[in-house]
Amino acid sequence: MTKSTAKIIDFNSVNGQTLPRLTTNIAEIDRVFGAGIVPGSLTLIAGEPGIGKSTLVLQIMQKMEGQERPLFYISGEESAEQIKLRLNRLVYHPKNLKFCAETNIEQICALIYEHKPVIVVVDSIQTMQSNEVESETGSVNQIRASSAKLLEAAKATNCAVLITGHVTKDGAVAGPKTLEHLVDVVIYLESEARGYRILRSTKNRFGSTNEIGVFEMTTTGLAEIKNPTTAFLDAGNANLPGSVIGCFWEGSRPFFVEVQALVTPTIFGYPQRKTSGFDINRLQMICAVLFKRAGLNLNNQDIHLNIVGGVKVNDPGLDLAVALAIASALKNIKFADKFVAIGEIGLAGEIRTVPHLDKRVYEAEKLGFLEIALPANADLTAKIKLLQVKKISDIISRFNISTNENADKIL
Ligand code: TYD
Ligand code: MG
Repeated sequence: MTKSTAKIIDFNSVNGQTLPRLTTNIAEIDRVFGAGIVPGSLTLIAGEPGIGKSTLVLQIMQKMEGQERPLFYISGEESAEQIKLRLNRLVYHPKNLKFCAETNIEQICALIYEHKPVIVVVDSIQTMQSNEVESETGSVNQIRASSAKLLEAAKATNCAVLITGHVTKDGAVAGPKTLEHLVDVVIYLESEARGYRILRSTKNRFGSTNEIGVFEMTTTGLAEIKNPTTAFLDAGNANLPGSVIGCFWEGSRPFFVEVQALVTPTIFGYPQRKTSGFDINRLQMICAVLFKRAGLNLNNQDIHLNIVGGVKVNDPGLDLAVALAIASALKNIKFADKFVAIGEIGLAGEIRTVPHLDKRVYEAEKLGFLEIALPANADLTAKIKLLQVKKISDIISRFNISTNENADKIL
């Protein structure tokens, strides 16, 4: 048997002190990083070309100014003049920020070891190459080798390294995807139909994931959306037949969205079910429950469902709003102004509770909604009118919109 040379460490001899996180004081950015960027960490900022990655990293740098150690911006894509133009747009007059047009990763790591910057941006990882790898620049091997070297340099010098990576619309480019397990934090910058830029963390060794930050691209860079919980709502349009406001939870806060349904008689063949921003299978399930448990005859109706604003929602807490939007579209009735529906629908037609119900109700109240349909048994006290719903049939019969004789008896 060979004798192991692996070193064993006693935790009592380990210094548990950590360096303070680097905060930008831009709440939407710090939130996604999990209360700031951790020194010595490697972060991948991925997104489609032109989405605003370079802009975002420069805005982060701008907030890191004023420290003793330098800030490095390394670009394999743009020249110093091009970056300078962007700095001008951002009204950023750099003090500690230094630029380097370099693509050789050994050179870049040597710079990091020598100068120990606070933060280094490598824009983009696809343009970097290592002497130790034969394959061409941009290949998966190059990207992985370059990232591994940067990770080593980051840990050794306590420098936070941000790398940007391009992904295509369907996320097909292998490069950044294969990096996800290697880096500490993965942040996606995406655009939504409304044009907002959504910052979303999908991996974070130092904080929770699925946090999102909402921004708008302006002439002077990315600007925070001040009231993100209502960013996907249009004022005044919700009070129409087929429209109901729902609420979904993302990261650590609720967002309100308008759910819109269009229900039309099927002209030929099978009834169609189409969705945008919502899971099609979930829609099928909700339709089946509406038919069987609440007496809505949807068997000869085409249904189009849209989550307005282009967001994609996975939270089943939106079920009740979806069901009510369909019922309202079918019967051409509208719900009261300032009405929100929250709840998951079970196969027996029961309305189930959702995580953070109290926080959702509190936020709805704060935003000026007047009535909220929500799961029964919720132990809540709120100023907002609470319409407690046990079963989907309760609320459908309350609004007098049932028809089907074959359905469960409506109470
Ligand atoms: P960029 O950061 O270059 O995107 P990426 O690095 O992801 O490829 O930004 C791309 C777009 O943003 C570009 O079309 C110009 C626009 N933009 C603004 O609208 N305002 C600004 O202040 C800046 C800097 C860029
Ligand atoms: Mg760029």
